[in-house]
Amino acid sequence: MDQSSVFYRSFEKNYPLIDRSEGVFVWDDQGKRYLDGSSGCAVTSIGYGVTAVAEALYEQAQQTGFAHGSMFTSRPQEELARLITEDAPAGMDYVYLVSGGTEANETAFSMAIQYHRQRKNHSKWKIIGRHISYHGSSFATMSASGNIQRRSLYSPLVMPFPLVPPPHCYRCYCGSTYPECGISCAQELEKTILSEGPENVAAFILEPVIGTSAPGIVPPGEYFPLVRDICDRYDVLLIADEVLCGYGRCGRYLAMDHWGVSADMVTLGKALGGGYAPLGAVLVQQKIYEVFVNNARKFNHGYTYQGNPVSCAAGVAVNRCLRDNKLFQQVTGKGSYLKDKLRELAGKQPIIGDVRGLGLLLGLELVQDKNTRQSYPPSIDIAERTRAIAMDKGLMLYTGVGRTADITKRDYLMVAPPFIINNEEMDLLIQLLDQALAEAAAHVY
Ligand SMILES: Cc1ncc(COP(=O)(O)O)c(C=O)c1O
Repeated sequence: MDQSSVFYRSFEKNYPLIDRSEGVFVWDDQGKRYLDGSSGCAVTSIGYGVTAVAEALYEQAQQTGFAHGSMFTSRPQEELARLITEDAPAGMDYVYLVSGGTEANETAFSMAIQYHRQRKNHSKWKIIGRHISYHGSSFATMSASGNIQRRSLYSPLVMPFPLVPPPHCYRCYCGSTYPECGISCAQELEKTILSEGPENVAAFILEPVIGTSAPGIVPPGEYFPLVRDICDRYDVLLIADEVLCGYGRCGRYLAMDHWGVSADMVTLGKALGGGYAPLGAVLVQQKIYEVFVNNARKFNHGYTYQGNPVSCAAGVAVNRCLRDNKLFQQVTGKGSYLKDKLRELAGKQPIIGDVRGLGLLLGLELVQDKNTRQSYPPSIDIAERTRAIAMDKGLMLYTGVGRTADITKRDYLMVAPPFIINNEEMDLLIQLLDQALAEAAAHVY
C-alpha cells in the first residue's frame, strides 16, 4: 500500500487490508483466508455477508437515510425498539437507540443521574464500577471502568469513581474461596455504598459475564440476587452492561436472564448491528421511564445519529436473521461443544491455566505455571504473541485490554465465534489455536 493517511490504533502493526467476508470467514486483499474466532470483538454474531441485511441497508438509504431525533421518529426505529423489548424481562419496555456501546453506557449514566434529580435526590451522581471491567472510551465510561492505568492517562479529567471486586473465583480479589466466602465480593458493594454515602451513589454498573478485560468470568449463582438486593436497599440503580455479553452471546437473550434477576437498565451494542451498522441501545425499566414522563417530560441528552433509520434498518434485519434462523437457540449447544474442545486443549497445552465462559463467550487465561497460576512476565506478552501467531495462521482472536486493575498483567484470549459456526469450523478453530499456543510457548525464551 502507498503511504497511508489513516491514524491507526497501533503503529507497531501492519494491518492486512480486508477485502471480503462471508459466513465465519474473512479474506484479505492477498487472498489469505481468516477464520473469525472472536466475531471481530463479539460483534458479527450472524456472520458476514448476509444478503437480507445488505438489502435492508440499501432500501432504507433510498427511502430516507437520515431523520434527526429532535424532529422525527422513523419506521425502523419504532420496529427495532419493539423487537428489542419483545424478549426483554418484564417491565423493561423502553429503548433509547444510539450508535455503540460507549454511547449506550454514557446515556445510561445521564439517565440515572437525571432520574435521581427528578426525584429530588440531587447529590446522587457517583457511579460505582468493578475492577476488571470495560465500559467504553468516553471520560465518564472510563471513570467507571476498571483499568486504572488507562484512567490515569487522562487525570484529572477522568473521575476516580469507586471500584468493587468482581466475582473472580480463579483469582479472588477478597482472598477467599467459594463457597465459604459468603460472596464477599457482593458484600463489598454494600460497604462501598456506605463509605461513599448512599445519598451520593446514583448507580452500579457491571458486566454480567466479563468481556474483553477477562473474557468469560461468570459469577456464582448467589451473586446477582445479593447485588439486586443491595442496590434496592440504597436506591442505587443497577446497570447491566451487556454490550458484549448480551443479545444471545451467553445462550440467553440477556446474560442476566441466566440468574432471573432484572437490572434497571441494560446496555446493548456490538451484536445489535451485527457489524453491518453502528448501533447501541439502553433498555429501560418502566419505573425510570415514568419518572421522566411525570416530571421533566424530557430527557436532557442526545446524539445526531441516535435512532438513525439506516442503522436501525440494519438492526431490524439482524434481529430477524437471529430469529428466523433460531440462532439464539443454537448458542448453548455450540458453546458447550467448543468449551469441551478448549478443555481438551487445556489438558494438552500447559500454558492454558483456565477455561471459562458461558455460551459462545469463552475465555482462556494463559499462565506460565498451571499449578501455581503464576502469570508470564508482562514483557513476554504471551496473549498478544499467541494472537499474532494465530492471525498469521489464519485465525482471528481477541486478546482483551491487557493490564487490568489488579495491576498485575494477566493474559487472556477471547474465543467468541459467530453463532452460525458449525462443528467442522470449530474443529478448525481448535486446530489453529493449538498450533498458535504451542508455537507461542516454544518461542518464549
Ligand atoms: C462491555 C463493553 N461495554 C462497552 C464497550 C464499548 O463499546 P463501543 O466500543 O461500541 O463504544 C465495550 C467494547 O468493547 C464493551 O466490551
